[in-house]
Amino acid sequence: MKPFIFITRKLPQTVIEPLNQEFRVEMWEKEDVPVPRDILLEKATGASALITMLSDKVDTELLENAPSLKVVANLAVGYDNIDLKAAKQKGVAICNTPDVLTDTTADLTFCLLMAAARRIVEADRYIKEGKWKSWSPLLLAGTDIHHKTIGIVGMGSIGEAVAKRAKGFDMNILYHNRSRKPEAEKSLGASYVSLDELLDQSDFVVVLAPLTAETEGLFQKEQFLAMKKSAFFINAARGPIVNEEALAEALETGEIAGAGLDVFTNEPISSEHPLLSFDNVVALPHIASSSTETRIGMMNLCVQNIHAVLNGDKPKTEV
Ligand code: DGY
Repeated sequence: MKPFIFITRKLPQTVIEPLNQEFRVEMWEKEDVPVPRDILLEKATGASALITMLSDKVDTELLENAPSLKVVANLAVGYDNIDLKAAKQKGVAICNTPDVLTDTTADLTFCLLMAAARRIVEADRYIKEGKWKSWSPLLLAGTDIHHKTIGIVGMGSIGEAVAKRAKGFDMNILYHNRSRKPEAEKSLGASYVSLDELLDQSDFVVVLAPLTAETEGLFQKEQFLAMKKSAFFINAARGPIVNEEALAEALETGEIAGAGLDVFTNEPISSEHPLLSFDNVVALPHIASSSTETRIGMMNLCVQNIHAVLNGDKPKTEV
């Protein structure tokens, strides 16, 4: 019998085509609904490989009931939905999708920064709601981006790609990371600083760190108080890095000037959530890597990784 591959979301047939000859492939077909947990668990019991989304928990419960499982390819660069230690113990290879999404994610992150600073969403709404009556001197005046200071928290490849964009805007670039990045310091003129210094000096605080035990809840009331009142907070990493109540309070009290958020603690966020009530918050539904080219590239990479592992080869991008 052909090995079984279960894919937890509907992907284009052209992408999974290379798997069809050697493997039995099944997909969760409902486009906009994540696979229910009980179905995922049931499918995993007979699967040799899974393609998962970041909304699927790959934990001990799943791994212990998946005796044939050899590889999980997560359609994301982040893998905080996966218990890596348990996977390792079970000898299951975990693969992610780095590199293919770096520039696309950096584009969107910078776009979010610009949209928040220049009030793009508010302005769009204003004109479409028929509110534009005349040109006026300070109509929807935003804040400059060029020559300001950007502080990047998490200087991985996406952080560096954002810094590259910031350099094009003549920004002063600060970063905070677990390790120093001498190359980025040299080529982009980025300066390594402590988190406190970064918060104190940045006009734009941009979070691009992975969600780990170290970064979970990193941004609390204290961190927002430490930021400039004129500063913007941008998060394109993971929601739980931020205490959302503290962020909402900082926006409410004017401790910071605005925010650009692509990620939330609970996704999808409820439209009633306090964070969505602020005009100075630009909110996106976790789409930083979502260009057609990049998402297809990520899917192809998942397919290649699965193909490699099930054929006894080394996957391209094992975590
Ligand atoms: C990732 O890749 O981790 C993004 O958050 C989803 O594309």
